[in-house]
Amino acid sequence: PFILSIAGGGSTYTPGIVKSLMVRLEDFPLSEIRLYDIDQERQDTIAPVVEKVIRDHSDTIKFTVTTDAKTAFDGAHFVFAQMRVGQYKMREQDEKIPLRHGVVGQETCGPGGLAYGLRTILPMVELIDLVEEYASPKAWIVNYSNPAAIVAEGVRRLRPNARVLNICDMPVAAMRNMAAVLNVDRHDLDVDYFGLNHFGWFTSVRVKGEEKLPELREHIAKFGLLTEDAAQTDPQHSDPSWVKTWRHIQPLMEAFPEYIPNPYLQYYLMPNYIVEHQDPDYTRANEVMDGREKRLFEAAREYKETGILPDAFHVGVHGAFIVDVACSLAFDLRQRHLVIVENKGAIADLPYDAMVEVPAYITSHGPEPIRVGDIPRFHRTLLEQQLASEQLLVEATLEGSYEKALEAFTLNKTVPSVIHAKKILDDMIEANREYWPEL
Ligand code: G6P
Ligand code: MN
Repeated sequence: PFILSIAGGGSTYTPGIVKSLMVRLEDFPLSEIRLYDIDQERQDTIAPVVEKVIRDHSDTIKFTVTTDAKTAFDGAHFVFAQMRVGQYKMREQDEKIPLRHGVVGQETCGPGGLAYGLRTILPMVELIDLVEEYASPKAWIVNYSNPAAIVAEGVRRLRPNARVLNICDMPVAAMRNMAAVLNVDRHDLDVDYFGLNHFGWFTSVRVKGEEKLPELREHIAKFGLLTEDAAQTDPQHSDPSWVKTWRHIQPLMEAFPEYIPNPYLQYYLMPNYIVEHQDPDYTRANEVMDGREKRLFEAAREYKETGILPDAFHVGVHGAFIVDVACSLAFDLRQRHLVIVENKGAIADLPYDAMVEVPAYITSHGPEPIRVGDIPRFHRTLLEQQLASEQLLVEATLEGSYEKALEAFTLNKTVPSVIHAKKILDDMIEANREYWPEL
C-alpha cells in the first residue's frame, strides 16, 4: 500500500478527493494519507472532516496532518498537489482587476491567469524540491495546481526531469456532460483532442466506435454543453456561473461546428461577450467564497459540535480523475487520458517542447503522448499565439522582466490593446507585491 500526501491539504477540494480515494481502495491501496499545507488554521479546520471520510471506510489507514515538509513527504509514494498561492482573496484580484479595464476576469485565462502564473511557478518548484528531498525516489506528483498550462511550462523549464504529471479535470468534466447528453456512461466515450490546457478542441467523440460529434453538435448548438433541463449531478457545476459557462459554448459551436471547444475558449474567442455577461463586483471567487467554502467550513463546524457530518463537499469527476491517473501511474495500466505533457511531436506542427494537452498513455514511467498529427491553420495559429503568451510569462517570472510580462499580456487574445495590457499589468504588480518576483 502507498503513502499519499496531499499538498494544499486545506483546500475545500480535499474531502472530495479523499472520498474518491476511499471508494477506490481496492484499486489504489493506501497505508497512510498525509495533509500538508502552509496555512495551518485552514488545514486544521478541514482535517477532521477528511479524517471522518477516511474512518467511514477504513480503520487502518494512518492519517497525518502537518505543516512540516519532512513529515509530509518522508517516504511518500504519491503527492497530489493543489496549491492556490494567495488563496481566494488573490483569485478575486485576478478576476476583478482586468474587469475594471473591461477585460475578461478569469483565474486561468487572460490577465488573471497570467498574474496567477507569476505567483505560482516558483512556489510550485519549491514544492517539487521538497518532495524530491524527502519522498521515495520513484514518487509521482500528480498536479492539479493552476494555472496548469503556465505551471507546466515553468516546471518543464526549471525542473525538466521532475516526476510531475500535470492534469486538469475540464476535459473529463466536458466528457461527463457529453455522456449525459448522449445518455451513456462517461467511461464509454473515446475522444480525440488537441490543444493547450484550457485551450483545446475535441475532434472526435465515439461510443463503441460510432462517431457522436454530429449528435453533440446539434445539442450544443441549441443548449450549450448542458443536458436539456440543465440538471447537473455535480454541485460545483450547478453554480450559476458554471451553468453560464457551459451555455456559452453555444455561440462557439454555431460559428465553428467542426470541433467541440473546451469551454475556456469562450474567454479567448468572445471576450467582449463574456465581459458583458460578467458582474465586475461579484465574480466566481465571490461565488466560491460564499458557496463552496462557506458550506464546507459550516459542515466542519457542525461536525465538531454534533458529530454528524453533512455532505457538503464536492465529489465527482475531479476526484475520480486524479485517482484514475494515479492508478495508471502506479500499476503501469497504460490507460489513455487527456493530460498536459511535453508535445514531442504529437501535434506535428507545434514546437517539440511545447506543453500541450493531448491524449496520452499513462505508464509507470509517465505519460506517452499519442500522435495527433497536423492540425488546421486556424487552430494552430491560435495555439501559437497563446503558447507565446504563456512562455513569455514564464520567462518574465524567471528573468524578472517587465518587458516580457507586458508582451505576455499584450499577446493574450483576451486583451484588446497594449494600453489595456499595460494598465492591467501595473495594477497587478501593485496587487501582487507580496507574491511576485520583482519585475
Ligand atoms: C475546472 C478547471 C480548473 C479550475 C476549476 C475552477 O475544474 O479545470 O482548472 O480550477 O474549474 O472551479 P471553481 O469551482 O473554483 O470555479
Ligand atoms: Mn483546469
